[in-house]
Amino acid sequence: MDRKKIVVLGTGGTIAGTAASASDHLGYTAAQLGVVQLVAAVPALAAGPWELLTEQLAQVDSKDMDFDIWARLVRRVSHHLAQADVQGMVITHGTDTLEETAWFLQALLGPDKPVVLTCAMRPATALAPDGPQNLLDAVAVASHPGACGVLAVCAGVVHGAREVQKVHTYRLDAFSSGDAGPLAYVENGGLRLLRNWPAAPAGQAQTAMKNIANLGEKRRWPRVDIVLSHAGADGAVVRALVADGVRGLVVAGTGNGSLHHALESALLQAQAAGVKVVRATRCLEGRVLSSPDDALADSQGLSPVKARISLLLELLAASDAPA
Ligand code: SIN
Repeated sequence: MDRKKIVVLGTGGTIAGTAASASDHLGYTAAQLGVVQLVAAVPALAAGPWELLTEQLAQVDSKDMDFDIWARLVRRVSHHLAQADVQGMVITHGTDTLEETAWFLQALLGPDKPVVLTCAMRPATALAPDGPQNLLDAVAVASHPGACGVLAVCAGVVHGAREVQKVHTYRLDAFSSGDAGPLAYVENGGLRLLRNWPAAPAGQAQTAMKNIANLGEKRRWPRVDIVLSHAGADGAVVRALVADGVRGLVVAGTGNGSLHHALESALLQAQAAGVKVVRATRCLEGRVLSSPDDALADSQGLSPVKARISLLLELLAASDAPA
């Protein structure tokens, strides 16, 4: 019987990081080992009921993730998923922007096969690295019958791309799905599913895909920034961004998306001048509950960094609309 293929794409991160000392969890350099080495370090991967294909897409500390890498990544992911004999994919990634890449891929592709991002909080050279187990768990999820959508696997927990957020600076279990809760747990290679796999988002995905193809890797993407409401916020940063040609702004408001009045007034002026403005919350849990007379759109439950990605895609899609 043909074994299903799982493609493992490497992008760098702490999972591929190395340090001079096995006890050093901080003074390491991310993105040093290739994806072939990561797979080779987990003997159980060679014994599984799958055929693994590896590809090194990038080698970065994910704090430096950029549009060029995202553009290449979305093309390679859609290429591999289109192959009938590919059952799913795993992407090794740094933890710092993992949730952004996860949402970018989910919002664009909404795949009906699993695309599982995984990572590590300790470098590969640590006394007890967490990357090898995370990688094994991610491959188990990618090969699970019925799994679909963009997922994140870390410390035995499976999160959906929409909810996943890094919430801790150094614990191994650094991610949370907030009040939605995890999708599943990986238990000794098996899966305990807690809720449904993520559904494909409706909307502009196809147009945005076309735009990404058109943009190429070196062209400029629309500029979308995030601003924060806080005590004493005065809106100067909004005015500076508008003067600099920003196309979209996400504001991380307090509580239920409330804004300092001075910041709000600058944002309303920006909106009146044609800048797209979206209101999210700086709270880690919950979502902005809107009311009909809100002057600024809310982020539909997305965190500020994910709302920024959706706004980027919306602007990309609009740039392809007929005049
Ligand atoms: C990174 O995000 O690439 C570095 C930090 C990590 O992976 O934990």
